[in-house]
Amino acid sequence: MKIIKCENYQEMSEKALEVIQELLKDVEKPVLGLATGSTPEGLYQEMIKANEKGEMDFSDICSVNLDEYVGIDPENEQSYHYYMKDHLFDHVNIKEENYNIPKADGDDLDKAVEEYNQLLDEIGRRNVQILGIGNNGHIAFNEPDKTLSIGTRIVQLTDDTIEANSRFFDSPEEVPKKAISMGIGDILNADHIVLLANGKGKQKAIHQLIHTEELDPMFPASFLKVHPSVFIIADKEALA
Ligand code: F6R
Repeated sequence: MKIIKCENYQEMSEKALEVIQELLKDVEKPVLGLATGSTPEGLYQEMIKANEKGEMDFSDICSVNLDEYVGIDPENEQSYHYYMKDHLFDHVNIKEENYNIPKADGDDLDKAVEEYNQLLDEIGRRNVQILGIGNNGHIAFNEPDKTLSIGTRIVQLTDDTIEANSRFFDSPEEVPKKAISMGIGDILNADHIVLLANGKGKQKAIHQLIHTEELDPMFPASFLKVHPSVFIIADKEALA
């Protein structure tokens, strides 16, 4: 694991873009794995600026997102579809047909899961997978559990995650209880993984991730330890 310590959130976001651009520099048609949440917002801002300056072209980029809440319309402000359009896609030259987010608002969720698994198979290995980390060590919505799934499926969010994500909703009751999420195998199916973390709330999870010597499904991020190219880009608070 390569650990890059940054002074603050802004430096973390700039450094993340620099690392990603370096990793993609010789790739003709990059495939990016994208995350939502507060952590990558600054990185997406930096991507937009780079796109405006002609330093990052999205016209050949294909992307796949980690997850989406079940039962939320893509037009709804709290959906990850909306988040991605608002924070990135509407502001860069990515083609609509090239970005992919699980469709979790229909009646047939099993079909939606099957289709996303098929899509991931067709797209194949991502060049770079961007990740955040939950306070409880989740990656995507792979929550601490007795076993973890390899592929995409429907997951139940834990109370910790519902509480943490309630800041985006009017109350914890409004946070969806389920999501469609990539599995651990999907996440690891990338040439490089860039995990971002900032703030005190992530200290414990980052400490555990750096120091753990075990693959522990109760700490899902521990599975990143088997990947040969993981960058942890974090501010000094998260790394304290
Ligand atoms: C988001 C995702 C989650 C978040 C994690 C951290 O697509 O899959 O694993 O990365 O919950 O969220 P923030 O960045 O809001 O602290």
